Amino acid sequence: MDFPKIRMRRLRSSAAMRRLVRETSLSVDDLVYPLFVREGEGLKEPIKSMAGCFHFSPDTVAAEAAEVASLRIPAVLLFGLPNKKDKTGSEAWSETGVVQRAIREIKKAAPQLLVITDVCLCGYTDHGHCGVIKDSKIDNDATCELLSKMALSHAQAGADIVAPSDMMDGRVKYIREALEENDFKDVVIMSYAAKYASAFYGPFRDAAESAPSFGDRKSYQMDVSNADQAMREIALDIAEGADIVMVKPALAYLDIIHRARERFDCPIAAYNVSGEYMMLNCAADAGLLDKQAAMLEMLTAIKRAGADIIVTYFAKEAARLVSG
Ligand code: PBG
Repeated sequence: MDFPKIRMRRLRSSAAMRRLVRETSLSVDDLVYPLFVREGEGLKEPIKSMAGCFHFSPDTVAAEAAEVASLRIPAVLLFGLPNKKDKTGSEAWSETGVVQRAIREIKKAAPQLLVITDVCLCGYTDHGHCGVIKDSKIDNDATCELLSKMALSHAQAGADIVAPSDMMDGRVKYIREALEENDFKDVVIMSYAAKYASAFYGPFRDAAESAPSFGDRKSYQMDVSNADQAMREIALDIAEGADIVMVKPALAYLDIIHRARERFDCPIAAYNVSGEYMMLNCAADAGLLDKQAAMLEMLTAIKRAGADIIVTYFAKEAARLVSG
Protein backbone atom coordinates (compact mmCIF):
# COMPACT_ATOMS: atom_id res chain seq x y z
CA MET A 1 0.00 0.00 0.00
CA ASP A 2 2.63 2.52 -0.89
CA PHE A 3 4.45 4.18 -3.73
CA PRO A 4 3.81 4.09 -6.67
CA LYS A 5 0.26 2.83 -6.08
CA ILE A 6 -0.27 5.83 -3.89
CA ARG A 7 0.82 9.15 -5.29
CA MET A 8 -0.63 11.98 -3.23
CA ARG A 9 0.08 14.47 -6.01
CA ARG A 10 -2.64 12.88 -8.22
CA LEU A 11 -5.26 14.70 -6.21
CA ARG A 12 -3.43 18.02 -6.63
CA SER A 13 -2.90 17.80 -10.39
CA SER A 14 -5.24 20.61 -11.50
CA ALA A 15 -7.30 23.43 -10.05
CA ALA A 16 -10.52 21.49 -10.67
CA MET A 17 -9.11 18.38 -8.97
CA ARG A 18 -8.06 20.44 -5.98
CA ARG A 19 -11.51 21.98 -5.80
CA LEU A 20 -13.09 18.56 -5.94
CA VAL A 21 -11.21 17.22 -2.92
CA ARG A 22 -11.05 20.43 -0.90
CA GLU A 23 -11.98 19.78 2.73
CA THR A 24 -12.44 23.33 3.98
CA SER A 25 -13.84 26.26 2.07
CA LEU A 26 -14.27 29.68 3.48
CA SER A 27 -17.71 31.15 2.87
CA VAL A 28 -19.16 34.62 3.30
CA ASP A 29 -21.65 32.92 5.65
CA ASP A 30 -18.84 32.44 8.20
CA LEU A 31 -17.94 36.10 8.56
CA VAL A 32 -18.70 38.82 11.10
CA TYR A 33 -17.50 42.40 10.55
CA PRO A 34 -16.65 44.56 13.60
CA LEU A 35 -17.63 48.26 13.56
CA PHE A 36 -16.69 51.13 15.89
CA VAL A 37 -19.31 53.76 16.73
CA ARG A 38 -18.72 57.04 18.50
CA GLU A 39 -20.81 60.12 19.34
CA GLY A 40 -21.26 62.60 16.54
CA GLU A 41 -22.82 63.01 13.13
CA GLY A 42 -21.57 62.31 9.63
CA LEU A 43 -18.36 60.74 10.94
CA LYS A 44 -16.12 58.38 9.04
CA GLU A 45 -12.69 58.85 10.54
CA PRO A 46 -9.82 56.48 9.75
CA ILE A 47 -8.51 54.63 12.82
CA LYS A 48 -4.77 55.25 12.93
CA SER A 49 -3.80 51.97 14.57
CA MET A 50 -6.03 49.85 12.30
CA ALA A 51 -5.58 50.59 8.60
CA GLY A 52 -8.83 50.31 6.66
CA CYS A 53 -11.05 50.62 9.77
CA PHE A 54 -13.05 53.71 10.74
CA HIS A 55 -14.85 55.40 13.59
CA PHE A 56 -18.46 55.93 12.53
CA SER A 57 -21.31 57.87 14.11
CA PRO A 58 -24.73 56.21 14.51
CA ASP A 59 -25.98 57.72 11.21
CA THR A 60 -22.98 56.74 9.06
CA VAL A 61 -22.62 53.30 10.62
CA ALA A 62 -26.05 52.48 9.19
CA ALA A 63 -24.84 53.18 5.65
CA GLU A 64 -21.74 51.09 6.28
CA ALA A 65 -23.89 48.26 7.64
CA ALA A 66 -26.04 48.38 4.51
CA GLU A 67 -22.90 47.92 2.42
CA VAL A 68 -21.83 45.01 4.63
CA ALA A 69 -25.26 43.44 4.11
CA SER A 70 -25.01 43.93 0.35
CA LEU A 71 -21.82 41.83 0.42
CA ARG A 72 -23.96 39.07 2.02
CA ILE A 73 -22.00 39.15 5.27
CA PRO A 74 -24.56 37.90 7.85
CA ALA A 75 -23.59 40.00 10.87
CA VAL A 76 -21.79 43.02 12.28
CA LEU A 77 -20.30 43.35 15.77
CA LEU A 78 -20.62 46.79 17.38
CA PHE A 79 -18.19 48.50 19.74
CA GLY A 80 -19.13 51.83 21.32
CA LEU A 81 -16.98 54.84 22.23
CA PRO A 82 -19.05 57.05 24.55
CA ASN A 83 -18.29 60.74 25.15
CA LYS A 84 -18.73 60.34 28.85
CA LYS A 85 -16.86 57.78 30.97
CA ASP A 86 -17.25 57.25 34.71
CA LYS A 87 -16.32 54.83 37.49
CA THR A 88 -19.03 52.28 36.69
CA GLY A 89 -19.36 52.83 32.94
CA SER A 90 -22.98 53.95 33.30
CA GLU A 91 -23.25 55.20 29.71
CA ALA A 92 -23.08 51.53 28.68
CA TRP A 93 -26.76 50.90 29.51
CA SER A 94 -28.16 54.30 28.53
CA GLU A 95 -31.18 54.06 26.23
CA THR A 96 -29.70 56.89 24.17
CA GLY A 97 -26.16 55.50 24.24
CA VAL A 98 -24.15 55.45 21.07
CA VAL A 99 -24.48 51.67 20.52
CA GLN A 100 -28.20 51.66 21.34
CA ARG A 101 -28.77 54.39 18.74
CA ALA A 102 -26.55 52.66 16.21
CA ILE A 103 -28.54 49.42 16.58
CA ARG A 104 -31.80 51.24 15.81
CA GLU A 105 -30.27 52.98 12.77
CA ILE A 106 -28.79 49.75 11.41
CA LYS A 107 -32.08 47.89 11.86
CA LYS A 108 -33.77 50.58 9.74
CA ALA A 109 -31.08 50.57 7.03
CA ALA A 110 -30.44 46.80 6.85
CA PRO A 111 -33.20 44.85 8.61
CA GLN A 112 -31.89 41.47 7.48
CA LEU A 113 -28.39 42.02 8.90
CA LEU A 114 -27.75 40.51 12.34
CA VAL A 115 -26.54 43.00 14.92
CA ILE A 116 -24.15 41.65 17.54
CA THR A 117 -23.02 43.92 20.37
CA ASP A 118 -19.87 43.72 22.45
CA VAL A 119 -20.88 43.71 26.11
CA CYS A 120 -18.01 44.98 28.22
CA LEU A 121 -17.37 48.02 30.38
CA CYS A 122 -13.75 48.78 29.41
CA GLY A 123 -14.69 51.40 26.81
CA TYR A 124 -17.08 53.07 29.28
CA THR A 125 -15.14 53.18 32.56
CA ASP A 126 -12.76 56.06 33.29
CA HIS A 127 -10.10 53.57 34.46
CA GLY A 128 -10.42 51.34 31.37
CA HIS A 129 -10.93 48.06 33.23
CA CYS A 130 -13.65 45.61 32.18
CA GLY A 131 -15.36 45.79 35.57
CA VAL A 132 -16.04 47.99 38.58
CA ILE A 133 -13.28 48.44 41.12
CA LYS A 134 -13.61 47.82 44.84
CA ASP A 135 -10.60 47.99 47.16
CA SER A 136 -8.29 48.13 44.11
CA LYS A 137 -9.73 44.87 42.74
CA ILE A 138 -12.22 44.10 39.99
CA ASP A 139 -15.49 43.24 41.78
CA ASN A 140 -16.81 40.22 39.90
CA ASP A 141 -20.47 40.01 40.99
CA ALA A 142 -21.10 43.77 40.98
CA THR A 143 -19.73 43.84 37.43
CA CYS A 144 -22.07 41.02 36.36
CA GLU A 145 -25.06 43.10 37.50
CA LEU A 146 -23.97 45.99 35.31
CA LEU A 147 -23.16 43.77 32.33
CA SER A 148 -26.65 42.29 32.47
CA LYS A 149 -28.11 45.83 32.38
CA MET A 150 -25.91 46.65 29.40
CA ALA A 151 -26.89 43.46 27.53
CA LEU A 152 -30.59 44.05 28.27
CA SER A 153 -30.44 47.61 26.95
CA HIS A 154 -28.84 46.31 23.73
CA ALA A 155 -31.65 43.76 23.40
CA GLN A 156 -34.24 46.49 23.99
CA ALA A 157 -32.64 48.53 21.21
CA GLY A 158 -32.97 45.54 18.87
CA ALA A 159 -29.70 43.59 19.10
CA ASP A 160 -30.00 39.99 17.84
CA ILE A 161 -26.91 38.70 19.64
CA VAL A 162 -25.13 40.00 22.74
CA ALA A 163 -21.46 39.15 23.15
CA PRO A 164 -19.98 39.51 26.64
CA SER A 165 -16.19 39.97 26.39
CA ASP A 166 -15.30 40.87 29.97
CA MET A 167 -14.37 37.41 31.38
CA MET A 168 -16.16 37.84 34.73
CA ASP A 169 -17.35 34.57 36.27
CA GLY A 170 -21.09 33.99 36.00
CA ARG A 171 -21.83 36.83 33.60
CA VAL A 172 -23.57 34.60 31.08
CA LYS A 173 -25.94 33.42 33.82
CA TYR A 174 -26.73 37.01 34.87
CA ILE A 175 -27.31 38.07 31.27
CA ARG A 176 -29.44 35.02 30.42
CA GLU A 177 -31.62 35.64 33.48
CA ALA A 178 -32.06 39.33 32.66
CA LEU A 179 -33.07 38.46 29.08
CA GLU A 180 -35.54 35.76 30.20
CA GLU A 181 -37.13 37.97 32.85
CA ASN A 182 -37.68 40.75 30.36
CA ASP A 183 -39.09 38.57 27.61
CA PHE A 184 -36.06 38.61 25.32
CA LYS A 185 -35.90 34.85 25.26
CA ASP A 186 -34.78 34.66 21.63
CA VAL A 187 -31.75 36.89 22.01
CA VAL A 188 -28.61 34.84 21.39
CA ILE A 189 -25.62 35.01 23.71
CA MET A 190 -22.26 34.63 22.00
CA SER A 191 -19.81 34.55 24.88
CA TYR A 192 -16.13 35.29 24.61
CA ALA A 193 -15.67 32.09 26.58
CA ALA A 194 -11.93 31.47 26.21
CA LYS A 195 -10.49 34.94 25.99
CA TYR A 196 -6.79 35.26 26.67
CA ALA A 197 -4.81 38.17 28.17
CA SER A 198 -3.17 38.77 24.79
CA ALA A 199 -0.72 41.36 23.48
CA PHE A 200 -2.48 41.04 20.12
CA TYR A 201 -5.27 43.42 21.26
CA GLY A 202 -2.86 46.37 21.11
CA PRO A 203 -4.22 48.13 17.98
CA PHE A 204 -7.82 47.64 19.16
CA ARG A 205 -7.25 49.37 22.49
CA ASP A 206 -6.19 52.49 20.58
CA ALA A 207 -9.24 52.17 18.34
CA ALA A 208 -11.67 51.65 21.21
CA GLU A 209 -9.86 53.99 23.61
CA SER A 210 -10.14 51.21 26.15
CA ALA A 211 -6.61 50.58 27.47
CA PRO A 212 -6.54 50.11 31.26
CA SER A 213 -5.09 53.18 33.00
CA PHE A 214 -3.28 50.96 35.53
CA GLY A 215 -2.29 47.31 35.75
CA ASP A 216 -3.38 44.75 33.18
CA ARG A 217 -6.27 42.35 32.51
CA LYS A 218 -4.56 39.22 33.80
CA SER A 219 -6.84 38.76 36.83
CA TYR A 220 -9.81 38.18 34.52
CA GLN A 221 -8.58 37.26 31.02
CA MET A 222 -6.96 33.84 30.67
CA ASP A 223 -3.29 33.00 31.06
CA VAL A 224 -1.81 32.44 27.60
CA SER A 225 -0.21 29.17 28.76
CA ASN A 226 -3.46 27.36 29.57
CA ALA A 227 -5.54 25.05 27.38
CA ASP A 228 -7.39 22.68 29.75
CA GLN A 229 -8.70 25.73 31.57
CA ALA A 230 -10.21 27.00 28.31
CA MET A 231 -12.32 23.83 28.14
CA ARG A 232 -13.65 24.54 31.66
CA GLU A 233 -14.43 28.15 30.73
CA ILE A 234 -16.33 27.05 27.63
CA ALA A 235 -18.25 24.30 29.45
CA LEU A 236 -19.34 26.77 32.13
CA ASP A 237 -20.55 29.36 29.63
CA ILE A 238 -22.59 26.73 27.78
CA ALA A 239 -24.10 25.55 31.08
CA GLU A 240 -24.98 29.15 31.98
CA GLY A 241 -26.87 29.66 28.73
CA ALA A 242 -24.44 30.71 25.98
CA ASP A 243 -25.60 29.70 22.49
CA ILE A 244 -22.28 30.35 20.74
CA VAL A 245 -18.86 30.26 22.39
CA MET A 246 -15.81 32.13 21.22
CA VAL A 247 -12.08 31.59 21.33
CA LYS A 248 -9.99 34.76 21.20
CA PRO A 249 -7.47 35.51 19.70
CA ALA A 250 -7.56 33.04 16.81
CA LEU A 251 -4.24 32.62 15.05
CA ALA A 252 -2.02 31.66 17.99
CA TYR A 253 -4.91 29.67 19.51
CA LEU A 254 -5.83 27.23 16.75
CA ASP A 255 -5.21 24.37 19.21
CA ILE A 256 -7.88 25.77 21.51
CA ILE A 257 -10.35 26.15 18.63
CA HIS A 258 -9.63 22.59 17.56
CA ARG A 259 -10.05 21.14 21.05
CA ALA A 260 -13.28 23.07 21.54
CA ARG A 261 -14.57 21.77 18.20
CA GLU A 262 -13.85 18.14 19.19
CA ARG A 263 -15.45 18.52 22.58
CA PHE A 264 -18.51 20.77 22.20
CA ASP A 265 -21.44 20.60 19.81
CA CYS A 266 -22.47 24.24 19.80
CA PRO A 267 -21.32 26.77 17.21
CA ILE A 268 -17.78 27.97 17.81
CA ALA A 269 -16.62 31.45 16.92
CA ALA A 270 -13.04 32.69 16.68
CA TYR A 271 -11.91 36.31 16.85
CA ASN A 272 -9.20 37.19 14.34
CA VAL A 273 -8.05 40.13 16.48
CA SER A 274 -6.60 43.54 15.67
CA GLY A 275 -2.96 42.50 16.18
CA GLU A 276 -3.35 39.59 13.77
CA TYR A 277 -4.98 41.93 11.27
CA MET A 278 -2.27 44.58 11.52
CA MET A 279 0.59 42.09 11.53
CA LEU A 280 -0.54 40.91 8.12
CA ASN A 281 -1.27 44.42 6.83
CA CYS A 282 2.14 45.73 7.87
CA ALA A 283 3.97 42.77 6.37
CA ALA A 284 2.03 43.24 3.12
CA ASP A 285 2.73 47.00 3.10
CA ALA A 286 6.43 46.23 3.52
CA GLY A 287 6.18 44.07 0.39
CA LEU A 288 6.92 40.92 2.34
CA LEU A 289 3.86 38.88 1.48
CA ASP A 290 0.85 38.75 -0.82
CA LYS A 291 -1.95 40.29 1.24
CA GLN A 292 -4.94 38.56 -0.36
CA ALA A 293 -3.33 35.13 -0.36
CA ALA A 294 -2.10 35.47 3.22
CA MET A 295 -5.50 36.72 4.38
CA LEU A 296 -7.38 33.81 2.79
CA GLU A 297 -4.82 31.36 4.16
CA MET A 298 -5.21 32.77 7.67
CA LEU A 299 -9.02 32.70 7.59
CA THR A 300 -9.12 29.23 6.04
CA ALA A 301 -6.76 27.94 8.75
CA ILE A 302 -9.07 29.32 11.45
CA LYS A 303 -12.01 27.55 9.82
CA ARG A 304 -10.03 24.33 9.32
CA ALA A 305 -9.18 24.35 13.03
CA GLY A 306 -12.93 24.19 13.70
CA ALA A 307 -14.41 27.67 13.81
CA ASP A 308 -17.93 28.06 12.39
CA ILE A 309 -17.88 31.82 12.74
CA ILE A 310 -14.91 34.15 12.18
CA VAL A 311 -14.98 37.70 13.48
CA THR A 312 -12.51 39.60 11.32
CA TYR A 313 -11.61 43.10 10.16
CA PHE A 314 -10.91 41.40 6.80
CA ALA A 315 -14.58 40.40 6.42
CA LYS A 316 -15.40 42.84 3.62
CA GLU A 317 -12.24 42.07 1.66
CA ALA A 318 -12.69 38.33 2.16
CA ALA A 319 -16.37 38.47 1.19
CA ARG A 320 -15.41 40.02 -2.14
CA LEU A 321 -12.97 37.17 -2.82
CA VAL A 322 -14.95 34.12 -1.77
CA SER A 323 -18.22 33.13 -3.37
CA GLY A 324 -21.38 32.11 -1.58
C1 PBG B 1 -13.19 44.43 25.18
C2 PBG B 1 -12.62 43.84 23.95
C3 PBG B 1 -11.28 43.81 23.52
C4 PBG B 1 -11.31 43.24 22.25
C5 PBG B 1 -12.61 42.92 21.97
N1 PBG B 1 -13.40 43.28 23.04
C6 PBG B 1 -10.05 44.34 24.13
C7 PBG B 1 -9.54 43.81 25.39
O1 PBG B 1 -10.03 42.84 25.96
O2 PBG B 1 -8.59 44.43 25.88
C8 PBG B 1 -10.10 43.04 21.36
C9 PBG B 1 -10.40 42.94 19.90
C10 PBG B 1 -9.24 43.05 18.98
O3 PBG B 1 -8.07 43.15 19.39
O4 PBG B 1 -9.49 43.04 17.77
N2 PBG B 1 -12.97 43.78 26.37
